[in-house]
Amino acid sequence: MALQIFRTKPIASHNDNSDGLKRCLSKWDLAFLGVGAIIGTGIFVLTGIAAATQAGPAIVVSFIIAGFACGFAALSYAELSSAVGGCGSAYGYSYAAFGELIAFIIGWDLLLEYGISVAAVANGWSGYFNNALTAIGMPLPESLTKAPILGGIINLPAATIILMLMGLLIMGVKHSAKANNAMVIVKLITISLFIGIAVFNVHPENWHPFMPFGWFQTLPDGKTTGVFAGASLVFFAYVGFDAVSTAAEEAKDPQRGLPFGIVTSLVFCTVIYILVSGLLTGVVNYSELNVSSPVAHALNLLGYNWGAAVISTGVIAGLTTVMLVLYYGLTRIIFAMSRDGLLSPFFSKVNKTTQTPIRVIVLCGFIMSMIAGFVPLGELAELVNIGTLAAFVLVCFGVIVLRITQPNLKRPFRSPFSPLFPVLGMLSCGALMAFLPGITWLRFIIWLIIGLIVYFVYSMENSKLADYK
Ligand code: ALA
Repeated sequence: MALQIFRTKPIASHNDNSDGLKRCLSKWDLAFLGVGAIIGTGIFVLTGIAAATQAGPAIVVSFIIAGFACGFAALSYAELSSAVGGCGSAYGYSYAAFGELIAFIIGWDLLLEYGISVAAVANGWSGYFNNALTAIGMPLPESLTKAPILGGIINLPAATIILMLMGLLIMGVKHSAKANNAMVIVKLITISLFIGIAVFNVHPENWHPFMPFGWFQTLPDGKTTGVFAGASLVFFAYVGFDAVSTAAEEAKDPQRGLPFGIVTSLVFCTVIYILVSGLLTGVVNYSELNVSSPVAHALNLLGYNWGAAVISTGVIAGLTTVMLVLYYGLTRIIFAMSRDGLLSPFFSKVNKTTQTPIRVIVLCGFIMSMIAGFVPLGELAELVNIGTLAAFVLVCFGVIVLRITQPNLKRPFRSPFSPLFPVLGMLSCGALMAFLPGITWLRFIIWLIIGLIVYFVYSMENSKLADYK
């Protein structure tokens, strides 16, 4: 039994295309896919919250720290995605490379990452949506825009947008690279507009004091503050570059395209984040940014009401695609785990008429909608981050393990300075986890314990891997 949990799937060739998916994505399409999934609530909302409550203008340093941790993890992702074929997600290739238990844990982590991040992004979406409604003189009552813990009844727009996306996914919205590229361009125009206006309105005195909350401290209520705590929160802004690896079967040249897409989208977003966070805290005082739509709010304060309206519209559109990609990714991971026997076959039934896994879409939709309606953004984001960081630590570790156990595997992309870089990835992601509040750790540990119970009670017995032996 002890050995069973290390059973691995044979490593699939990158040319396997059993689903018959068309290989149509160029390396630039993949980079756009990454940018589409990455830029969202993190930069448009959390930057304001983290600057106001955790890092002050030094939020830009928080972004650099989180960017480095992601960089090391991205190089490990790039190596694995180039070396290991199959379905391409971290779950898929860790199953092939590291064994069933670790794969299950990564898969279970990814459920947390993708599921909760949809709810978190819906919260960010809701902030900008309300801002737009207010601008046209039709604001929703406050009790319908906030979670109970923040003094409201329900965040109705956040809960509703997820149910609408559920409808779209049921109808079988095809993941279209063209539509994604168009949305990425809308997002980039939105950001360029902000940069274009902000750059002429910086008041350098807003950058003083630069680090009002210091590097790190735990407050009496258990919350954490300081530049490192800010880095663990804004890490959320980088979540999504790993989604590029889920497109392995649709990539023209996955062995080169995936590493290119992952690394390029991450580097590009890091530069954007440094620019936007630096400018945001330069145009208004950081203490004014603890609002649900800080980028639009800053432009309103500067008197650019038209700019705020355009940006809100762009953000509303841009965040919708982030949610769609993550929601779609979630259903795909559950589908894969169910197909492998690690979750109930109930989840991998495809509806004959719509050809979509309706059950899993509806179940996830209702759960995420409830979470989005009743839990505030900050707590959701921290939970996403701890799950994602844990998966990154395992992926970095996986690179080291695989170099030892399969030294001759063809690796078109190799993480440089291995094992140094993967070790730095493990340390930096592990450190960001350590800076998260105790309550987030508790929730994460409970999630993992539930996962391990599911694995040992159900998955191990029902795993389809017996067929591979
Ligand atoms: N990185 C994505 C965002 O910030 C999840 O919305």
